[in-house]
Amino acid sequence: MVQQLNLARAAQLVGVPRSTLQRLIGTGQLAAFDGFISLDELRRLFPQAALDDAGAYEKVAKIRAEAFGRRVRERMLPSQEVLAQRLFAQGQELADLRRFLAAYHALVVESERRVRELAGGRPDAALQALAEEMQRGLGRVLGTEQAEGLDAMANVLDVISAQVTVRPSGRQFLLEGNDSILQAGLKAGLRFGYGCGSGSCGLCKARVISGDVRAIQHADYALSELEKQQGYALLCANTAVTDVVVETLEARGPADIPEQTVLATVRAIGELAPDVRLLHLQTPRSSRLRFLAGQSVTLGLPSADGDLVQTAPLASCPCDERNLHFHLRRDRQAPLAEAVFAGRIRSGETVSVRGPLGDFVLDPQSDRPLLLLACETGFGPIKSLIEHAIASEQVDSFALHWLAADADGHYLANQCRAWSAAFDQFSYLPITDPDLGSGVARLIDAVRGGAALARSDIFVAGPPEFVEAAVPALLEAGAPRERLRSLAV
Ligand code: FES
Repeated sequence: MVQQLNLARAAQLVGVPRSTLQRLIGTGQLAAFDGFISLDELRRLFPQAALDDAGAYEKVAKIRAEAFGRRVRERMLPSQEVLAQRLFAQGQELADLRRFLAAYHALVVESERRVRELAGGRPDAALQALAEEMQRGLGRVLGTEQAEGLDAMANVLDVISAQVTVRPSGRQFLLEGNDSILQAGLKAGLRFGYGCGSGSCGLCKARVISGDVRAIQHADYALSELEKQQGYALLCANTAVTDVVVETLEARGPADIPEQTVLATVRAIGELAPDVRLLHLQTPRSSRLRFLAGQSVTLGLPSADGDLVQTAPLASCPCDERNLHFHLRRDRQAPLAEAVFAGRIRSGETVSVRGPLGDFVLDPQSDRPLLLLACETGFGPIKSLIEHAIASEQVDSFALHWLAADADGHYLANQCRAWSAAFDQFSYLPITDPDLGSGVARLIDAVRGGAALARSDIFVAGPPEFVEAAVPALLEAGAPRERLRSLAV
């Protein structure tokens, strides 16, 4: 029996983004029926995945894990209870299949015997041919080789992860380990509505249309009896035991995300370059910040000389759980960055985070390629966009150009090279030029005339003078105004 896989599972199995399979289906290179792909078809197109299957998957997973600071492997397995339930469901399916197979086998053997009997008594050529064909067919079936590694791996994936389908958007993601449906959805780049993330506000309430969910944490928020009967559950407090379909709305844009104020803790301050610091904040478990990749927030720190307040773009992705990253450059006009460089802010301190702000965000409806132009710490919000696009598998083609005055300015070049190595359609071009004018001219030359300019969603981020020079030059070079977004940092 040929195993059929849905798109998310097939992509997980061969270790490519879902969008890559979608593209192959669109170009007719991969056959799909009703959104399902056969294992044979996958094996034909990805022969290296047959036994080296984990290798390809791990390659991308490793890059992702490094990119988002997550250790996927350690968190792969669900709890024993969930594992037991999934194994039970698989065992039941296997028992049913065995029963059916035994019945079919008996039927075919009996039919073959009857046909042979009939054919033996009459000189009927058609009956003789049918008897011989049935005998050969039975021989072929009984002689079929053992299932390959890919088949076994597909079954294992069914046990260690569950698939969640969201209605009405149709988005799908896989839930691994002990994650709640909310956590797994955010990691997969979905824009779920939620508040506390810890079962007390009720904002993540959603209807479970099919499949089984299981509570993994206590929830203070009480669902009404009617809501329970209608299948509502808190996405932050439940995991999926089987594949599930849930009904909930996702944010379409910045207007759907309310302003929040969260008190976050400074986890670390790191040196990215002599003039650039990484400020790593973490929000409390019970009060996360909901934002879209590419947005900014206002940071505030009480100080004896008056509060230090500064607006800064996030350099991390909403998929990175409670972690908020900022790339701060030395700037006398930016009081909080100055305090960071002066060593006046330390780990463990509390910083208020208010926001999110801005519309420097991805179009959730678009799967167009991304053309990303960064200058200096403008890379921060661009990084946030890239991580979100990778997590959501919304886009599979990226062209990143990063302009800096000196080599130190490409302070996360290794990260960019890792993306480029992990994804077939990720190009990275660093440009070093101490003169902003000629640097912008070189950058525009690199994208001018290429098809990418006309068909991409374009994001430009960097110091104000860079944005002021790059945006008109891009428009003049043919960039469509409606698909160009810019952010001065
Ligand atoms: S996010 Fe508040 S209850 Fe789930």
